[in-house]
Amino acid sequence: MKHETLEKNATLLLIFSLLVVTIGGLVQIVPLFFLQNTIEKVDGMRPYSPLELAGRNIYVREGCYLCHSQMIRPFRDEVERYGHYSLAAESQFDHPFQWGSKRTGPDLARVGGKYSDEWHRQHLSNPRNVVPESIMPGYAFLADHELNTKNYAANLVAMNDTVNNGKGDMYTKDDIDNAEADMVAQATGENTDGLMKRYPKAVARNFDGDAKVTEMDALIAYLQVLGTLVDFSTFKADMSR
Ligand code: HEC
Repeated sequence: MKHETLEKNATLLLIFSLLVVTIGGLVQIVPLFFLQNTIEKVDGMRPYSPLELAGRNIYVREGCYLCHSQMIRPFRDEVERYGHYSLAAESQFDHPFQWGSKRTGPDLARVGGKYSDEWHRQHLSNPRNVVPESIMPGYAFLADHELNTKNYAANLVAMNDTVNNGKGDMYTKDDIDNAEADMVAQATGENTDGLMKRYPKAVARNFDGDAKVTEMDALIAYLQVLGTLVDFSTFKADMSR
């Protein structure tokens, strides 16, 4: 009976509806403010090396995310095709994240190490060279665009300013001072000791067989590291939360 009064009075119904929505909202949102962290720390994850970061910037610039996702969902069909489902920590250094929203081509979250550099070079130059039925556009011009390695440290500083509320703890001073040297080392495969210390598991070699450091080198370095940093033979998900 009391409910009938409520249902017949539009103003009262509105007030009580708002009350219910407010309580429901608070119950969902307030606990989030008390979480220490929303991303579980995972061994092996590190910021991108300068060359990988340059490759990532090219990936974003060319709109690769319009056709490719980088997010393996925890479903059996996806895990069997692409590998272990994506962890939050794997996108922790991606700003902006590259999950994508559409798959015209396959997911790329674990494409690192799947193909040789030469395959990527052929594929990016003209996808039909290696996959005859491919509808992906070619990016041959990347091999002619030399990278400006000189001022690259500024990109690392920019990442520091952007992430973690500008706390500046993504790249250390050492990383920033060595940005140019690391970039050249990774794109040539020479003098890589410092690079490997700062960025373990970096793939360092002359990606395109050319002495110059090009956008092609950077993009392939980026593709080759995707999904390779976490060792899933030892990784155990924390199910306690
Ligand atoms: C118009 C949509 C489209 C765009 C844009 C696009 N791709 Fe693709 N990509 C595809 C399709 C379709 C395939 C599957 C056929 C093939 O292998 O070429 C593919 C395949 C790939 C593969 C092989 C994946 C695998 O596991 O076999 C890689 C690597 C790749 N793309 C990288 C890129 C990069 C890097 C860019 C941006 C420079 C890009 N793609 C832009 C559609 C696209």
